[in-house]
Order: sequence, then C-alpha cells, then structure tokens
Amino acid sequence: MIPRPKEIRLTEGTVVQGTAVKERVCKELKQEEYHISIASNEIRLEGGGKTALFYARTALEQLRLIYGEELPCMEIRDWPSYPYRSFQIDCSRHFFTVDELKKMIRMSAVFRLNRFHWHISDDQGWRIECRRYPKLHEISSMRAGDHFGNYDSDQPEGGYYSREDVAEIVDYCGSLGIEVVPEIDMPGHVTAILAAYPELSCTGGPVEVGMRAGIFKELFCAGKEETFTFIQNLLDDMLELFPGKYFHIGGDEAPKERWKACPDCQRRIEEEGLKDARELQGYMCNRIASYLRSKGRIPIVWNEAVYGGNIDKEVVVQLWTEDKDDQIKAHLDRGGRAILSMVEHCYCDYPYGMHSLKDMYDIDMSPKELGEGREGSILGAECLVWTEFIRSDARLEEMCWPRFAALAQAVWCGEERPEYEDFRSRLTALFPIFEKYGIRAVKKEGWDPDERMAAEQTAEFQMNFSEEEREEARRAQEDI
Ligand code: ACM
Ligand code: ZN
Repeated sequence: MIPRPKEIRLTEGTVVQGTAVKERVCKELKQEEYHISIASNEIRLEGGGKTALFYARTALEQLRLIYGEELPCMEIRDWPSYPYRSFQIDCSRHFFTVDELKKMIRMSAVFRLNRFHWHISDDQGWRIECRRYPKLHEISSMRAGDHFGNYDSDQPEGGYYSREDVAEIVDYCGSLGIEVVPEIDMPGHVTAILAAYPELSCTGGPVEVGMRAGIFKELFCAGKEETFTFIQNLLDDMLELFPGKYFHIGGDEAPKERWKACPDCQRRIEEEGLKDARELQGYMCNRIASYLRSKGRIPIVWNEAVYGGNIDKEVVVQLWTEDKDDQIKAHLDRGGRAILSMVEHCYCDYPYGMHSLKDMYDIDMSPKELGEGREGSILGAECLVWTEFIRSDARLEEMCWPRFAALAQAVWCGEERPEYEDFRSRLTALFPIFEKYGIRAVKKEGWDPDERMAAEQTAEFQMNFSEEEREEARRAQEDI
C-alpha cells in the first residue's frame, strides 16, 4: 500500500469479497486518522472525520487491488506525519482541460495528497474567468504563439476556466478531501495580466502575453496605489470561487530592474522608510497578505519574497531554492512556517534522468540548514509540475506519475518512511492502480535511469535552453 500505513498487524484468517463493510466516524481519532479492521465476518472502517473515512476506503481499495478476492485479516492504524501534502499543476504555460485535471486530482487523492496548488496565472497566460476585470480572460488568456525551448509555433494558444469549471474542480476536490490552493503569482510573473492592464506596470506598457520560457522583467508597479486596488478587487473576485483556507500569492523570480528605475516605486521606498527594492517586495507582499488575512485566509509565498527580511511571520513560505543569507531560517526563528518543495526532490518538469523517483522519495523533511527542532513549523511538502515543455495530457501524466506517489508517501510517513527499495516493491505491486484510473504512468524501467540514460535525458532537456537564455536567466537571478 502507498502511503505505507503506520501500523499493520496481520491476524488469523481471510475474508472474501462481498463481506459487509461498516463505516463510522470516530471522534476520538485525529482528523485525518483512520483505522481498518478486517475480520473474517466483517470489515470495519473508522475515521476521525469524513476525509479520514475516505482514506480508509482508498486503503481498502488498494488492498483489494493487491490481494484480489481474498483479503488477509488485519488491523491497520494510520495517520499522516504532516498536515500539508500538496501537488501543483501549472495551467498557465499550457492549459489542461477540466477532465484532465479531474483525472490528475483523482489519482492524487488515492495517495492522500490533500492540497491542489493550482497555478492559474503566469507570464504566458491568465486562466480564470474574472467578473471584475474581464480583460483578464479575454486578453490575458491567449498568446500569439508558443516558443518554449526549441519548440516554435505561431498558432495562438490559450484558454481559461469558466466560473462553473472552477466550481466543478473545487467541489470535486472537496469530495476527495482536497483543498484547492489557487496561486496568483505577483509581483513578477504577471506579464499576461499586464498585457491587458499595462497601466499597472512601472512603464505603462505596451506589454504582450509571454510566449517564451524564462524570467520576465515586467512587474506590478509597487509604487502606484492603483495596483493595490486592482489586486484587492481581483482577490475579492477569486475568493468567491475558492473557499479554502490557503491562498498562494507567488513572489518568486521578480528581478528588480523596473522598480529600480521607476519614480513611483522609488518614492514608495522613501516614504515607507524601506532600504531597497527587496524590502519593497516584502512591503508589497505584507500588504496583500494582510488583506487576505483580514478575509480569514492564510497567505503562502515562494521563498524569494522573504529575501528583504521584512515578511510578516504569519505568511507561510514555500521553499524551492537555497536559503539565501539564512533568511528563511530567520523567518522560522521568528515563528514562521514553511512548505518544502526543493527543486531536486519535488520538480516533475525535469526528466526522470535528472530527478529520479528515488530523488523524490528521498526528500529531507527536516533540512539541517533551516535549523534544529522545526517540528510544527514545517507544514509539509509539495510535488510540482511546470508545463513549459509539456504540451499533452499523456506527457503531463508521465512526468507526474509515479513521482507524485513517491512524494505522497514521503510526506505522509515523514521520518518513519521505509527504505526506498520497500517503496519500489510496493509501487510495483500497486502499479495496476494507474491503469484503473486511466493514468499513463512511467513503467519501472524508467523510474531510476542509469548513468547513460540519465546523461541522454539531461542533454535532451538542456537543449530547451540556448546559451543566450541561460545567460539572461543568470543575470535575472542576481537581481531577485
Ligand atoms: C518557481 O519554480 N519559480 C517557484
Ligand atoms: Zn513602479
């Protein structure tokens, strides 16, 4: 079974298909804790809540798939080590249909991932119907072509989810114990938004929806008050659609070139007594975060938002890069909390030859560089898929599965994780589950490529970036 339950005790006998299954919510159990008791005359499922009962059902489903008609009698007691177990899908770089998303969500629920981080806005596309700012779905959702890596197409590309589509996804997730965490990335990665509303940029535009990969220099202007009005109205519109507790406001890869040259941004820095453009990002983030908190939400940001050193401790930080100047450690020292998603363990947009199944499984849930005794401040972890180079449903599924399952077990089991070889053999036994849900997962030979295959896959992936693009990215990184 995956994730492997914390406690399994085999008892005497077997039970046949068709035996009565009784379910009960049991208040003494923790919210996500479930028990299964398989006895010769009865199967009992107990859970601390509705979601926990669903987990008991999915565990039983896995057992049936593995053992067939006749299940061995056993007692299972299980609960997660971490409360935040997330998967992210980037629907901006490429658009995926509601049906495809539901397929990915259904599969994730089987492995007890409980947050769907939905990346709905980036340089290359805004993806949600917006009442207050309709140019977002009318203009920002389409780009004139697709020039990611060495792919070249002048066909217009895009799409957006209607409000009904969003409600369908949110409800579907809800029925599977999954909270949707939308992400509106800002102040960087907003090129698509600025294509429709260029007055919110530092220069006033014109701006066109991005068609390439990489780090873009247009940001929301942090000096103009109109920017904050726009963002708050936009959030109001989105909060109607997304009822969950968490809301992601991005904050990654925002080079400061524009802010450094903008009189409005410079005035803001001076008036607010800020040291520099990094602190300006912290200021902006805090304003948006406190607006979200006033609406009862918990804001999440990528780790670069912390680099100014002035982020409120209530803002949850999602780690994906190294801890520059120990700023994230300092955030945790102040009582802040974090979600782990380090590139080398969590990013499924890289080929298996670069981030193998084992790399995903081996995520360190207590990285030393964040300091000792962080129990409680690490909420959990997330597996991610960015889709610049993923243009089809089949490719999306291959890139994510079974790697998402490895992360799911790592974050469910935490320090009590069994050896990787144990995981591989469980996965081998359970592999038919991917077929059951119509997911085109990578087969065993591809999970942990040998050196030669890894080198080939790495070389092929690197061809997506020209030397010029690499240099541009290095320069942008220095200015973040
Ligand atoms: C990120 O990968 N830019 C968060
Ligand atoms: Zn500005």
